[in-house]
Amino acid sequence: MAKKVLITGASGLLGRAVYKEFLTDASWEVLGLAFSRASGNLRKVDITSSEELTKVFDDFKPQIVIHCAAERKPDVVEKQPDATRQLNIDATRRICELAGNIGAWVLYISTDYVFDGKNPPYNEDASTNPLNKYGISKRDGELVTLEVSKDYSVLRVPILYGDVQDLSESAVTCLFDKVKDTGNRCVMNDYERRYPTHCADIGVVIRQLSDKKLQDASSIGGIYHWSGDENMTKYDMAITMATALGISTSHIEADKNPSVGATRPYNAHIGCNRVESLGFGRRTPFKDGIVPVLSPFVGK
Ligand SMILES: NC(=O)c1ccc[n+]([C@@H]2O[C@H](COP(=O)([O-])OP(=O)(O)OC[C@H]3O[C@@H](n4cnc5c(N)ncnc54)[C@H](OP(=O)(O)O)[C@@H]3O)[C@@H](O)[C@H]2O)c1
Repeated sequence: MAKKVLITGASGLLGRAVYKEFLTDASWEVLGLAFSRASGNLRKVDITSSEELTKVFDDFKPQIVIHCAAERKPDVVEKQPDATRQLNIDATRRICELAGNIGAWVLYISTDYVFDGKNPPYNEDASTNPLNKYGISKRDGELVTLEVSKDYSVLRVPILYGDVQDLSESAVTCLFDKVKDTGNRCVMNDYERRYPTHCADIGVVIRQLSDKKLQDASSIGGIYHWSGDENMTKYDMAITMATALGISTSHIEADKNPSVGATRPYNAHIGCNRVESLGFGRRTPFKDGIVPVLSPFVGK
């Protein structure tokens, strides 16, 4: 019998990688949900609609639900708190309840922004203290998930990159617009510390956790972390991408001040002991992972 996984946000940066990862294993039957970018095999479902969600759970009856869909841009969240609550918290609760009705397991994707970044590293049991409305909404989504069932799980991840449809899609790849424009000054934040992580590596961790959950339900539950292990500022990322792609770095300048906009943690490095102790995970070096991601945009 096929194992069935439902992936929300399968048109998004992370969801696409998770969807692709499950498709590599024929023992999984995969249904991906999307909204404005629904196309191909992805089903269009507005997850803020209880009726639409109920129908998809009734039709597909997944055993595993990977909940990627969210509003994840801190500056958008600051401006749209009501829409964010409906998507990041209310829809999460409904998904968790519907999964509970059919005995499915939910893995809720969260963020290192649930931490204040003042005292890293943060292990899975560290106290949360989000600094901005995005972090608060994701922390509240975590609480809702684990309130509906303590057997559900949360996977926190840091800043992501991976195959993008356009450079603006990831907070990492968006740096490349200025990096490749060698005729102009490129000022990059060199203050906040980040751990850029390849979406495909997260996809592997999620499939491994899902397989393990179906093999031995009691062995998987609660909060997990996964992160790359290279400590970089955006300036470091810009220099690494330029160097890896043979682009001049002489126009790239470091800005030692905190970034503007919604307050962001200084260094929310997350410890990944629980996934590592299962023997799971993969870490693609940034200089290797970023080249195929950016190559289609060189010279454009
Ligand atoms: N990107 C990062 O650097 C990062 C870092 C840490 C944690 N995370 C977490 O990782 C998860 C995935 O983030 P991401 O970067 O992949 O986000 P993303 O690229 O912005 O994708 C968001 C997804 O949510 C879907 N969505 C939005 N509104 C919806 C609605 N009303 N109904 C159904 N689907 C809806 C979008 O569908 P359409 O596009 O089809 O409308 C899209 O598939 C999020 O939970 C985020 O908090 C991301």
